[in-house]
Amino acid sequence: DWTPYNFVEMTVNDLKEQVGNDKVVLGLSGGVDSSVAAVLLNKAIGENLHCIFVNNGLLRKYEFESVLHQYEGMGLNVKGVDASARFLDALKGVDDPEQKRKIIGRVFIEVFDDEAHKITDAKWLGQGTIYPDVIESISVNGPSATIKSHHNVGGLPDFMKLKVVEPLRMLFKDEVRRVGASLGMNPELLGRHPFPGPGLAIRILGDITPEKVAVLQEVDHIFITNLKNWGLYDKVWQAGAMLLPVNSVGVMGDERTYEKCVALRAVESTDGMTADWVNLPYEFLQKTSNEIINKVKGVNRVVYDISSKPPATIEWE
Ligand code: XMP
Repeated sequence: DWTPYNFVEMTVNDLKEQVGNDKVVLGLSGGVDSSVAAVLLNKAIGENLHCIFVNNGLLRKYEFESVLHQYEGMGLNVKGVDASARFLDALKGVDDPEQKRKIIGRVFIEVFDDEAHKITDAKWLGQGTIYPDVIESISVNGPSATIKSHHNVGGLPDFMKLKVVEPLRMLFKDEVRRVGASLGMNPELLGRHPFPGPGLAIRILGDITPEKVAVLQEVDHIFITNLKNWGLYDKVWQAGAMLLPVNSVGVMGDERTYEKCVALRAVESTDGMTADWVNLPYEFLQKTSNEIINKVKGVNRVVYDISSKPPATIEWE
């Protein structure tokens, strides 16, 4: 019988045997899969697991600091690398969605490779690949997905010459969560919404500037915090805000304004392949919209996305 408890016991034993006294490098994304993979590996090989958590400058507000802090609290041997400037520089002036993804994937690999190099004698690359990733090849979350989709491009970076260890590759998402829970991991970490590897870059339509990232982080933070405060966060599969590349006219006092519009999106889904928009309470939307317009400078209009997938996608880019 499959139970999370049996799985942990068996996997930890297997990992000990497979990896022995070798060092493993693993990229943490802040998401569920890479985190659970890290905790399992940590249980098996302790300090020989070297985790790298990269800030690409496109994460949610406070995300880098708070997640890094959580990882440290879990006893993981983790290095936080703030490469925001490097990513934002490389993205300057780029407005094509696929181009953005390519650039972010490439810079991630460069940054990760630099860091992996500093860990001498590493023999293995740990990844949080889960079963749907194995069958699909394009996956939903995190650095591991970025690595995979760039597998065949050009010469391999050094870290990709490492042997790969993927302790979750036979599991579905709900099983990963159960394994995480049986390892005593924080329910808040295990219940996190999926978040795309390219982060806010694909929620800022058009070109990306540090100012736009800052505006979207504020908007997103208000939306997500309110979902949590209203007890709605766990009822939603994924939620976020999009910064639209249009200004519209508004009024403040006796002045006309001409400022940005944001779209809020919340969806129900099981695997991200299809999704329905969530019927959030009007009062919630009303309060959240007011709060965003009052608090976030440069935004004078909020709309709610009522499109389902298909034919719309979850992200706007
Ligand atoms: P779409 O927008 O295609 O999104 O309906 C489906 C799910 O995939 C996530 N997503 C991505 N994840 N890299 C990722 O790691 C990407 O380039 C990417 N694009 C979309 C999206 O957040 C949703 O969960």
